Amino acid sequence: MPLFPQTRPRRLRLTKGIRDLVAETKLSIDDLIMPIFVKEGLDKPEPIEAMPGYYRYPVSDVVKVVGEALENGVKVFLLFGIPLPEKKDHLGSAAYDPNGPVPQAIRLIRKEFGEEPVIFTDVCICGYTSHGHCGIPVEKHGRSLIDNDSTLDVISRMAVVHAEAGADFVAPSGMMDGMVGAIREALDDEGYTEVGIMSYAVKYASGFYGPFREAADSAPRFGDRRSYQMDPRNAYEAIKEAFLDIEEGADILMVKPALAYLDVIRLVKENYPHYPLAAYNVSGEYSMVKAAAEKGWIDEKLVTFEILTAIKRAGADIIITYHALDVAKWLREGYSPF
Ligand code: PBG
Repeated sequence: MPLFPQTRPRRLRLTKGIRDLVAETKLSIDDLIMPIFVKEGLDKPEPIEAMPGYYRYPVSDVVKVVGEALENGVKVFLLFGIPLPEKKDHLGSAAYDPNGPVPQAIRLIRKEFGEEPVIFTDVCICGYTSHGHCGIPVEKHGRSLIDNDSTLDVISRMAVVHAEAGADFVAPSGMMDGMVGAIREALDDEGYTEVGIMSYAVKYASGFYGPFREAADSAPRFGDRRSYQMDPRNAYEAIKEAFLDIEEGADILMVKPALAYLDVIRLVKENYPHYPLAAYNVSGEYSMVKAAAEKGWIDEKLVTFEILTAIKRAGADIIITYHALDVAKWLREGYSPF
């Protein structure tokens, strides 16, 4: 056992109490953010096939979902909205509809539970555009390009609408250049100086988002996102991306996905130790665990704790994870993995 230096040829007893006492990494429910999908036009929860145990909820169900989570100790939520298909357009204008699914859900949560739940919202247009891109495509010189600046206008309006409804933090996830600065300015101009920004500063163009795209119906209808998300081969570039977002006013940084990027989490934390760092344990990471567990090939609880602990050990302070409610329930049942 490496924890206690073996200066003499003897071993210390390592009971559970002693192991817990000297454990370097301690995972707590306070570290976790639970994503919630709210979908316009539903009358009952809709299971997400690629994410066993996860659902898209009617907006009115959000009170029940948040209530159950709060009872189990989960206090922080990240809301994703799914509009009616006919509301999707080229510009993603439904994203800033004050009566869209997310603003409605926030108002319901605030009305029922007041200030207690911490509400983050995803700010990206991919679920609201007819083409499924995170930015607005334009034709230029016979090619389709993402128009960064017009996208910034739309996501800034979206952020203000979420702030107005009562969000604590907005989380821009589209990796548009200047998104944090544009949103900060828009929020401040409208008087929402107290609303924070959690930036998806370091987001890789990853295959691990597959199940989410089914969940949020947000897959790009043409092309891919490699022009505006990071290349999995790069790590040091993450330092630059984090730096830019800090300069623009990000309050919390994020690395996404988590599991294949533990080195990047460590790198960002070591370079910016004074910023809270979140890691997104994304849909593909969740679904792989669920699928293997369903087949009886792994111990779901142990593997889930091992993964979340590893993400924390790498340097994340906050973990966004679809396992949040399961973990909360297991802990309440007295489960202890190590
Ligand atoms: C929206 C967004 C995505 C995720 C979070 N916000 C989808 C994407 O980038 O394709 C992915 C989360 C997950 O896979 O769990 N841009």
